[in-house]
Amino acid sequence: MQAYQIQQSTDRTALSLTERPIPQPARDQVLIRVRAVSLNARDIQIMHGHYPAAIAFPLVPVSDGVGEVVAVGHAVQRVKVGDRVAGIFRQKWIAGNASPAIRQSTLGGPLDGLLQEYAVLNEEGVVLVPAHLSDEEAATLPCAATTAWSELFTRGQLKAGETVLVQGTGGVSLFALQFAKLAGARVIVTSRSDEKLERVRALGADEVINTEKTPAWAARVRDLTAGYGADYLIEVVGDLAQSLQAVAYGGQISLVGFLGQRIAKIDIAQAIVGMVRLQGANAGHREAFEAMNRAIALHHLHPVIDQTFSFEDAPEAFRYMEQGGYLGKICIRL
Ligand SMILES: NC(=O)c1ccc[n+]([C@@H]2O[C@H](COP(=O)([O-])OP(=O)(O)OC[C@H]3O[C@@H](n4cnc5c(N)ncnc54)[C@H](OP(=O)(O)O)[C@@H]3O)[C@@H](O)[C@H]2O)c1
Repeated sequence: MQAYQIQQSTDRTALSLTERPIPQPARDQVLIRVRAVSLNARDIQIMHGHYPAAIAFPLVPVSDGVGEVVAVGHAVQRVKVGDRVAGIFRQKWIAGNASPAIRQSTLGGPLDGLLQEYAVLNEEGVVLVPAHLSDEEAATLPCAATTAWSELFTRGQLKAGETVLVQGTGGVSLFALQFAKLAGARVIVTSRSDEKLERVRALGADEVINTEKTPAWAARVRDLTAGYGADYLIEVVGDLAQSLQAVAYGGQISLVGFLGQRIAKIDIAQAIVGMVRLQGANAGHREAFEAMNRAIALHHLHPVIDQTFSFEDAPEAFRYMEQGGYLGKICIRL
């Protein structure tokens, strides 16, 4: 079978195609024929050695993917041959809190990922995916979608009528937008692009703010919410000082990413007085993934896909993501 490997972490031309034997499942493992994968920002960061965790190379990249179960070990009970499954992002995170050992069980680094024709996973590390989704759509769920779901409904308790602010128009933010609309919430989206903001309106965004034209975006959030602020804020940029101004009393800021800056200077008193929950996001566990899948199936929700590449063009998919400018997930079909 064919597998892509990153040979080292500094050169993207290091993504090379290799020939490997098809692995065989042990007693509690399943062999999946991978059908589609989708890229996350971390896949690019890992490739360039910018990911804030130790990763050993060579590595089969990409955490998120979906495939068909083609063989199972004799003790496997959770799935059967023919099922369509996704690998869970952190293979050992079933429920509760994460731990260093659970972080070490992440697909696409440190564990080999799914940019390969076949993969063996533990039966505990897979979930069935909603039947109405295409393979590419189902492949988008493990990291970005489960993170968004977990912040709003596992660590958060979003209710109808509340306001969610999502920063940017990336994978996590678009899923947060879609899930928040399912729950009857009002959603404000920020972006640096008017064109993208126009497109997110079609996805249900109630209000949009261009942060290039309105750098003091927190004040605009206050205006839009009659001074109240956003109950939930998905922070992917790192502009925490403004996020603290934009969040409501008792609201939650989910610290998901730091695409703009990693170090932020904040007024701690502002968080204390506002009783703000600063919530570090760490993707999501299997229980959250399964709860999310039930909601996706019930509401026939479709993830937003920007573009799908062939397996042969996988390096081109990485380059496309690095260029930015996309809206929605970038997929690779096997
Ligand atoms: N903690 C966790 O559990 C977890 C899980 C998933 C992802 N993440 C992290 O969260 C971040 C977002 O992930 P993603 O998959 O949604 O990424 P993505 O699909 O690459 O999208 C990121 C979006 O953020 C905006 N953006 C990018 N650079 C920016 C900058 N310098 N300043 C302001 N906005 C910027 C862009 O939107 P516009 O072009 O519309 O402005 C872009 O589309 C990444 O850093 C990722 O590593 C963390």
